[in-house]
Amino acid sequence: MSGSIRTAVLGAGGYIGQEFIRLLSDHPLFLPPALIGRGHSEGRRLADVWHLAEECPPELASQKIVRATPRAIASQADAAFSALPSGIAGPIESEIARRGVPVFSNASDHRLDPSPTMIVPEVNGAHLRKQPRGRARSAPILTNPNCSVTGLALALAPILSILKPISIHVATYQSLSGAGFPGVAALSVTDNIVPFIADEEEKIALETPRLLGRVRGGRLRPLPVPILAHCARVGVREGHLEAVTVEARGLGDPARLRKAWRDFDPLQGLAIPSAPHPPIVVRAEVDRPQPILDRWAGVERSRGMAVVVGRVRWTPPYLRLFLLSHNAVRGGAGGSVINAEYALARGVWGARTP
Ligand SMILES: NC(=O)c1ccc[n+]([C@@H]2O[C@H](COP(=O)([O-])OP(=O)(O)OC[C@H]3O[C@@H](n4cnc5c(N)ncnc54)[C@H](OP(=O)(O)O)[C@@H]3O)[C@@H](O)[C@H]2O)c1
Repeated sequence: MSGSIRTAVLGAGGYIGQEFIRLLSDHPLFLPPALIGRGHSEGRRLADVWHLAEECPPELASQKIVRATPRAIASQADAAFSALPSGIAGPIESEIARRGVPVFSNASDHRLDPSPTMIVPEVNGAHLRKQPRGRARSAPILTNPNCSVTGLALALAPILSILKPISIHVATYQSLSGAGFPGVAALSVTDNIVPFIADEEEKIALETPRLLGRVRGGRLRPLPVPILAHCARVGVREGHLEAVTVEARGLGDPARLRKAWRDFDPLQGLAIPSAPHPPIVVRAEVDRPQPILDRWAGVERSRGMAVVVGRVRWTPPYLRLFLLSHNAVRGGAGGSVINAEYALARGVWGARTP
């Protein structure tokens, strides 16, 4: 099964690039992507640089990864999916959008732009409609947040109004694939945990309140609650585990919170093929969630797109829980694919006729 919208993946030789390729190779709206890259993967067949544990899509295995300018990308794709390193991505993504092709990006460069917005549709899809379009002739650039932020924002969104939080504390146990390929040196993480990931704690503190905030009078007002993070790299292949403590003013009891999570499915009824239903899975077992058991939560096309919440403990004024989300799927490429599907469904962009 394949759609009709032409796509390109930027950074096709990297970890997120290959998750994009896997998700787009058999998609009801999108055609399999052109593979754009440089450095060690340029000129090589996809199969020869494939890093994921899942199979390389057979129909793309022999396709070569090629270097291309933003102009060439804009002429051969109706949508660009960016897995470029942050810092490099910004000007390339701007140039593609300026040429009328929407960009769905994992990089952080455009996350804090006033108009091209950072979106997790279930959490702040409404921001997309309400934000003014500052660059009328450009196509949109939509980004997903940092990979730890997606799961945190999804888990908090349904319970914020019950809890009325005063402060939010999170300690992350982040997987190796979060650092891309080849990532962290084996000797740094074997028999070890590294209690530092560059810029990660700052991104969690900055991006989470923006996602959970409101747009008033055309201006984004971040959630006025401090978010304090500790981030560590652990020897897990995929899936970020997070221990969350919310200091709360509200009177939530665990049953009420569980119901809020269970009833939360804001994308129900919209034509968004990769959206998980429900987006949050609450586990009752005392030892869940775990990366090895829960990273692929969701079914069929939405495998790896749901967030798993567990070990919910409410000792007023503190709510404590663990959550797990797949950093490279829901927190990475899958987040951008859902953003593209959501933006199409909402008419934020329309594909050009191939
Ligand atoms: N990994 C995650 O879980 C995750 C989650 C959310 C967001 N992100 C973000 O997603 C982006 C990609 O991350 P990643 O983990 O996939 O990193 P990665 O494995 O290092 O992949 C980046 C790829 O981009 C290629 N590249 C570099 N400059 C390029 C250029 N000018 N044109 C085309 N290709 C270029 C690199 O090629 P060479 O290696 O040959 O130089 C590499 O294959 C980053 O911005 C990251 O912050 C990652």
